[in-house]
Amino acid sequence: MIAKIEQLLTEVEAATAANAEELEALRIKFLSKKGAINALMADFRNVPPEQKKEVGMRLNELKDKAQEKINFLKEQFENQESGTEGIDLTRTSYPIGLGTRHPLSIVKNEIIDIFARLGFCIAEGPEVEDDWHVFSALNFAPDHPARDMQDTFFVEAQPDIVLRTHTSSVQSRVMETTQPPIRVICPGRVYRNEAISARAHCFFHQVEGLYIDKEVSFTDLKQVLLLFAKEMFGSDTKIRLRPSYFPFTEPSAEMDISCNICGGKGCSFCKHTGWVEILGCGMVDPNVLDANGIDSKLYSGYAFGMGVERITNLKYQVKDLRLFSENDTRFLREFEAAW
Ligand code: PHE
Repeated sequence: MIAKIEQLLTEVEAATAANAEELEALRIKFLSKKGAINALMADFRNVPPEQKKEVGMRLNELKDKAQEKINFLKEQFENQESGTEGIDLTRTSYPIGLGTRHPLSIVKNEIIDIFARLGFCIAEGPEVEDDWHVFSALNFAPDHPARDMQDTFFVEAQPDIVLRTHTSSVQSRVMETTQPPIRVICPGRVYRNEAISARAHCFFHQVEGLYIDKEVSFTDLKQVLLLFAKEMFGSDTKIRLRPSYFPFTEPSAEMDISCNICGGKGCSFCKHTGWVEILGCGMVDPNVLDANGIDSKLYSGYAFGMGVERITNLKYQVKDLRLFSENDTRFLREFEAAW
């Protein structure tokens, strides 16, 4: 009897199961009513009384070991199943959501498209810029208060290096390397030291334009801007130009469009005036042409610059500027259909 128990014990120890069926077969072999252990139990009454104690102990040991082994193998299966075995590889995968274009990119591309059709090329330049290209080349006098006008971020330890406050810096880079005719738009991010709120941020995006050739006049500027406004906001859109000041243009103007939210009737967005300002513009100051290597006696030009956030607000009525830089996908998903 002891020999039989020993043999079963080695069998139990060596037992393995590759799947649930094999495991069940093991259970039946050892632990079921008709299994090997029960058969031994039935034989127990035939064991001579002086051996009963030892045989009984070994028999119990065998029963416990068999149960432990079965439990152990079962657990192994359960873990495996939660790994790969339980996965249905034929099931269709979860749909992978397509990303959406950022509203500012959508609007920036729209602006670029309109000017591209008029023959403007894209010019780009660095965001960390030297004082010359951001200010001096654009007719800002060394201590001109206009430098404060744009709340500049100075790059520490290098007072002449700044974060560009407008993409006009790219215009001056184009002028210093290219002779007219020049027809470029300069999209890009710009930085100004402003407290962050729903209406202002320390960075935003611009698209500025520059056109230089012989006999370019204010009429050309006005016509191009009117066309832009109609393409961007609809053919009923009206524009008006108000005199303004920029160091790099003379004369300078700010352009309003008829409020496309109320159609010019007056609403809270246009502060009940029927008009909203969307850009600054003017004829390039001859000093700027000369400072950048273009002969102001031969050439004239116009320039304009607009904020992409502002145009986007007008198109999509985003109430809080901060939404543009928070990467909240609930906001970004709203523009799924826009492009
Ligand atoms: N650079 C100006 C700004 O950032 C905009 C502008 C560009 C005005 C070109 C006139 C001409 O506010």
